[in-house]
Amino acid sequence: MNTRDELGRALHDLRISVTDRCNFRCTYCMPRELFGADHAFLPRASLLSFDEIARLTRLFAGLGVRKLRLTGGEPLVRRDLGQLVAMLAPTHGIEDISLTTNGSLLSREKAERLRKAGLKRITISLDALDDATFKAMNGVGFPVAKVLAAIDHAAAAGLAPVKVNMVVRRGANDQAIEAMAEHFRGTGQILRFIEFMDVGTTNGWRLDEVVTAKEILARIDARWPIEQAPPNYPGEVAVRWRYRDGGGEIGVIASVTRPFCGGCTRARLSAEGRLYTCLFAATGADLRGMLRGGASDEAITGKLAAVWHVRRDRYSELRTAATAAGRKKIEMSYIGG
Ligand code: GTP
Ligand code: 5AD
Ligand code: SF4
Ligand code: SF4
Repeated sequence: MNTRDELGRALHDLRISVTDRCNFRCTYCMPRELFGADHAFLPRASLLSFDEIARLTRLFAGLGVRKLRLTGGEPLVRRDLGQLVAMLAPTHGIEDISLTTNGSLLSREKAERLRKAGLKRITISLDALDDATFKAMNGVGFPVAKVLAAIDHAAAAGLAPVKVNMVVRRGANDQAIEAMAEHFRGTGQILRFIEFMDVGTTNGWRLDEVVTAKEILARIDARWPIEQAPPNYPGEVAVRWRYRDGGGEIGVIASVTRPFCGGCTRARLSAEGRLYTCLFAATGADLRGMLRGGASDEAITGKLAAVWHVRRDRYSELRTAATAAGRKKIEMSYIGG
């Protein structure tokens, strides 16, 4: 089936948040002042079970979804994620399953288990190479070395090439751009620089803290000349660049200065079973109620298609107007990155 939204965009990717919890408190995502000991995370019974996620995935695949990404919060805090991957991998139509993680809980054994269960790719977040900067940014004093070890575990388990996500925030870690590039050059791992986004309501976003992709690329190019590479698939979020000397590739994700809503084929399922059609959406359709109320596959599929058909989201493109209007937004740790 070919399900298109009001702007003609197909439904191709499903990003599944398996938990709203995280063991980090990144300043740009879950700042510790606002996500303290008294923060009310979702109770266990509110989360979709693995069976519920697998059923929805099958129905989404029937509407054209081909790619899955497991996110959070931190997906590896959910017990036995490998079991979920094993349940999702055989779904008819699903061609790719990947995971976005902070790497803190990724041992060699876990990486092996995930790959054997059917995980194809992994993206690990790392914002700096020096402990002082990284510890301040992750909010819990987590050391760089353990994330670097996780990247190695993932690569050794065959989840290569590992992608590494670095959110760049001026005044926090922008001085680490060149060191990060130097470290990952020639490793086969793909470093992606991400513009700091105004997602959620808690991270104190300011335009002057955004380091533009243009500036990042100019700084890299000054040290190691780069050239643009063609996208791997239409609508790819990251723009690819490669080192002219054969040092491999990097990417930039410029959602602030070069929005990519036109090619946005991503639906998002929150940990408690709400369907969001934009990373910046304020409200989502309740699917858990249908699942637990005994709705048929046909009824749920009808709902998914109906939600997608009326979708007009293009928040990043409309950012300026929406920000001025003080629109309500949802946290990224809840909806899934
Ligand atoms: P692949 O190309 O399949 O490897 O995935 P990806 O690059 O889309 O995956 P990833 O989860 O690593 O996305 C990287 C980052 O891009 C996210 O953490 C977000 O910061 C940003 N991003 C991803 N999707 C969207 C989106 O739909 N809208 C916006 N504004 N930002 C997004
Ligand atoms: N801006 C950009 N990216 C963000 N992420 C979380 N919060 C933000 C933000 N404010 C992304 C990062 C991280 C992933 C889990 O979510 O890429 O690696
Ligand atoms: Fe956790 Fe990832 Fe958010 Fe950091 S960016 S707080 S690791 S969910
Ligand atoms: Fe898609 Fe919304 Fe991101 Fe635009 S802002 S790319 S519509 S998720």
